[in-house]
Amino acid sequence: MPRQIILASRPTGWPTAANFALTEADRPDLADGQVRVRNLFMSVDPYMRGRMNDVKSYSPPFRLGEPLEGGAVGTVIESRSPELAAGDLVLHMLGWRDEAVLPAGQARKVPIAKGLSPSVYLGVLGVPTLTAYVGLLDVAAMKPGEVVFVSGAAGAVGSMAGQIAKLKGASRVIGSAGTDDKVRWLREIGFDAAFNYRVGSVLDQLREAAPGGIDVYFDNVGADHLDSALVILNDHGRVAMSGAIAHYNATEPPVGPSNLLLVITKRLTLRGFIIIDHQHRMPDMIADVSVWLRDGTLTHAETIVDGLDHAPDAFIDLLRGANTGKMLVRL
Ligand SMILES: NC(=O)c1ccc[n+]([C@@H]2O[C@H](COP(=O)([O-])OP(=O)(O)OC[C@H]3O[C@@H](n4cnc5c(N)ncnc54)[C@H](OP(=O)(O)O)[C@@H]3O)[C@@H](O)[C@H]2O)c1
Repeated sequence: MPRQIILASRPTGWPTAANFALTEADRPDLADGQVRVRNLFMSVDPYMRGRMNDVKSYSPPFRLGEPLEGGAVGTVIESRSPELAAGDLVLHMLGWRDEAVLPAGQARKVPIAKGLSPSVYLGVLGVPTLTAYVGLLDVAAMKPGEVVFVSGAAGAVGSMAGQIAKLKGASRVIGSAGTDDKVRWLREIGFDAAFNYRVGSVLDQLREAAPGGIDVYFDNVGADHLDSALVILNDHGRVAMSGAIAHYNATEPPVGPSNLLLVITKRLTLRGFIIIDHQHRMPDMIADVSVWLRDGTLTHAETIVDGLDHAPDAFIDLLRGANTGKMLVRL
């Protein structure tokens, strides 16, 4: 029987293995218009932590006792729709299970690209890179010659944001990450400077890395990172507020930023965005990224965990920073 991961209980603070359960799923006959997909890879993402809380947000909370959901890529193994045929590779939102049954209209056929793993549709050719692209170029409106700081820089979104900034003409790109190995890797993939936020103050390290200040901050972290970026931002600087991972497991209201007055005195713009509002930019992102992948100027990394039974560990490890690049589960 196919298996699935259900939400067994809602986490308080950091999630634990006890919040998840692996169960057997039904194998229903297909209704007209439905397809059955054998999932090959599923994504674990920081936003899923928010959906485990019973609070209203831009996407509804996961339901207790029900399978979790999220991005997945797989092969159609049975179809009762003229839109999709057995053997098609599709992207859809019913991850956290071996097999998904869904209306064909909720699965998007993607090309089976020679030499590329199907996992790219969850990473370098998917939502994380679109988030980086839109956040940097549309939300923060980065211009050539500007200095860019990216937090969470060794992750799926951050590693793309930093590289895209360089490829679009930033004069200097700085990244922060949580280990020395990640910092070394950021330099290898083209960041001009990088620092480990765990070994010293973010403010001091950012000031040293950006002696002339920064013009754009791509914020994946919030907290001390946002506070420090506000200090170092130049007049008319912009912040693309992509995420605030330092807050996701907090049980107390997060502190700060304590210096929002700087937004006025420096005429800064802080703008939040949710990528579902920007899907129309996918073709532009794919066009640019395809060229950069072909000519070797864009590096993408994946951290792959094997087996549906290890998906909860992969998710918890993602929040702890075990990944370099995109965190994925191979099913
Ligand atoms: N706005 C949108 O539509 C949108 C879409 C996708 C993602 N996002 C956001 O983008 C950010 C990155 O997402 P992703 O999918 O690319 O995940 P990711 O960066 O690949 O993985 C999360 C990373 O966050 C870092 N981290 C965890 N706790 C931290 C803390 N307290 N302070 C600093 N860093 C911490 C860890 O790396 P270290 O080892 O460096 O700590 C970890 O590897 C998240 O905030 C996410 O919510 C937003």
